[in-house]
Amino acid sequence: MQDQVALITGAGQGIGRGIAVAFAREGARVIVEDLRDDEDSQRTLELVREAGSDGCVLAGDVARVADIQRVVEDGVRQMGRIDILVNNAGIERFAPFLDVTEEDYEQVMDVNLKGAFFASQAVARHLRDTGRRGRIINISSVHEDLPFPNFASYCASKGGMKMLMRNLAVELGPLGITVNNVAPGAIRTPINAELTENPALVRKLLENIPLARLGTPSDVAGAAVYLASADADYVTGSTVYVDGGLLWDYSETRRSAP
Ligand code: BGC
Repeated sequence: MQDQVALITGAGQGIGRGIAVAFAREGARVIVEDLRDDEDSQRTLELVREAGSDGCVLAGDVARVADIQRVVEDGVRQMGRIDILVNNAGIERFAPFLDVTEEDYEQVMDVNLKGAFFASQAVARHLRDTGRRGRIINISSVHEDLPFPNFASYCASKGGMKMLMRNLAVELGPLGITVNNVAPGAIRTPINAELTENPALVRKLLENIPLARLGTPSDVAGAAVYLASADADYVTGSTVYVDGGLLWDYSETRRSAP
């Protein structure tokens, strides 16, 4: 990824930080985007530098189109170009469907789906205007396919992200822009700390994960590196699942095994 510049949203922690470091190891310079230019985002930039590359921190709220456009403009001004966009910023709100508020619904949809939508638009316009090929990688979830009771707005946003990805793969293909999703399962990050810090909940969840462990940000980063690499030149419109087999693990016990 020498000479490439990647813009990663929500890169101040979790999966976004893992991807920033993995891209830096491959030689890419990284625009660390997050809500705030704070200790977390600066720490990611530090890790990018320790990995032998460089970049910058740009703060913005992906839920606001004006912020996204400014981040893309400033990113291009500071780093000279953007080749790869990773739509990683994401939030979730727990609530039984009957209790979901308009505010929670809007926050989740605005960050997860509207953010990815308009960041993709801003970067795709930049690529078109500079006549260059590029990559868009969305960090989706197994919940682009799999129901997640009490997280209806999250599932709606990730299901939307799946169709956005497929649509853009077709629409942006002629510009030489590939668009793919990485769909993580249960990864140990701040978004699900409530789960991962509760041993009883983790034990129960592991029963549904054939590989019998939670994932790490670097598990997810490997798939993002592949989709950003020349090896994935002919891959577009796809979802790569990084979930230890969680998505397809349905089991039902009716009688004891023979
Ligand atoms: C969610 C996590 C959840 C995981 C597996 C992710 O998309 O953000 O909260 O633990 O899916 O269900």
